[in-house]
Amino acid sequence: MDSEHAARPLEGRHILLGITGSIAAYKAAVLCRLLKTAGADVRVMMTPLSKQFITPLTLATLSKNPILVEFFDPENGAWNSHVALGEWADCYLIAPATANTLAKMAAGIADNLLLTTYLSARCRVVVAPAMDLDMYAHHATQQNLRRLAEQGVGIVEPQEGELASGLTGKGRMAEPHQIVAFVEEMLAEKKKTLAGKHLIVTAGATIEQIDPVRFISNHSSGKMGYAIAAELALRGARVTLVSGRTALPTPAGVERVDVLSAEEMYRAAAAAFEEADGGVMCAAVADYTPVEVSPTKLKKSEGEMTVTLRRTHDIAAELGARKGKRLLVGFALETDQEADNAEAKLIRKHFDFIVLNSLRDPGAGFRGDTNKVTLIDRRGHEELPLMNKRDVAVRIVERIERFFER
Ligand code: PMT
Repeated sequence: MDSEHAARPLEGRHILLGITGSIAAYKAAVLCRLLKTAGADVRVMMTPLSKQFITPLTLATLSKNPILVEFFDPENGAWNSHVALGEWADCYLIAPATANTLAKMAAGIADNLLLTTYLSARCRVVVAPAMDLDMYAHHATQQNLRRLAEQGVGIVEPQEGELASGLTGKGRMAEPHQIVAFVEEMLAEKKKTLAGKHLIVTAGATIEQIDPVRFISNHSSGKMGYAIAAELALRGARVTLVSGRTALPTPAGVERVDVLSAEEMYRAAAAAFEEADGGVMCAAVADYTPVEVSPTKLKKSEGEMTVTLRRTHDIAAELGARKGKRLLVGFALETDQEADNAEAKLIRKHFDFIVLNSLRDPGAGFRGDTNKVTLIDRRGHEELPLMNKRDVAVRIVERIERFFER
């Protein structure tokens, strides 16, 4: 990285800073200044209530732009176009974001300029929640944050500490420098740190045919594995994505091999692994398949029916046995004794690290756009908060980068 870029990592970036009615709004002045120092062009949008906590004059002076509050200027009728503002911004950062604004964002309510702009923004959106600890912990707020994460909104988690109410707990807005670091990382051009590496990723569900009509499968959508494949490709890796059936588009720069059954996935993954520098085993692979596949539709009859199943290849275990010094990352999808089961898989399948997700965690696992994972290797556990699968993929790929740096 050249030193000028390091000093002004947001040079040329457009940041729309939304401020809502929280006591933490006083920190928005520092936030605005840090964004400007990092090189960003900043425009500030305020809810009417937030003007009680910090003056538009302060923010206009710091951002060097007029402040936007209403849809139009009552003096001259000049229109503040929420669509144009959303298009102008590279990032729409709402900090502080109150429980009220988060709830309205999650529900799609647009009763002020700040919220209307959120609904029409095409850029990345980041929120930095700020509220009292009980409001933050409330089921409704947590559900709203989950919904926003599912919609791709980046969430800068609030901190533990003393709150304006005098109580102590989680709800304090993150410090301005932490929020700026979050935005910088999100907007950073990906360096091609994995150029020259070939990685395979398995993703999605396998399908084990019983007859031409019925099959055994699971709920995997492929989203987690596709996000990893996309992130690896962004960092310059050659990626072979061995994919079960999914409705997802192929990520840019990724070679995709479509398969149906566990047997097909095994063959495709094993062949690609021969030449690869490593693999990420994210697919939900059937452990059993019918011994016989009926060529015609099975007819119903009175009484019970039995389908005899046999074991499939454990793709990850077989690649683990022959991996040598190459990288192998596994997943563990658990419902109980999560850590013990994941650690056992880490060792048995010779993974370099394993990504544990539990179906007991709301918002984790199959189908949704979020996941909550713990990264486990032989040295310890790193528990991550609930995040968009795209951001989980970033964290996994950062570990992969570190593996290849050794
Ligand atoms: O696709 P999504 O809807 O986004 O959902 C994501 C996910 C929940 C599928 C993903 O996060 C996940 O957990 N994938 C692994 C699911 C799984 O089968 O876990 P497991 O604990 O049963 O398997 C352990 C590891 O062995 C996994 O890396 C798995 O890919 C691999 N395996 C398992 C069985 C088998 N026959 N072959 C394998 O390679």
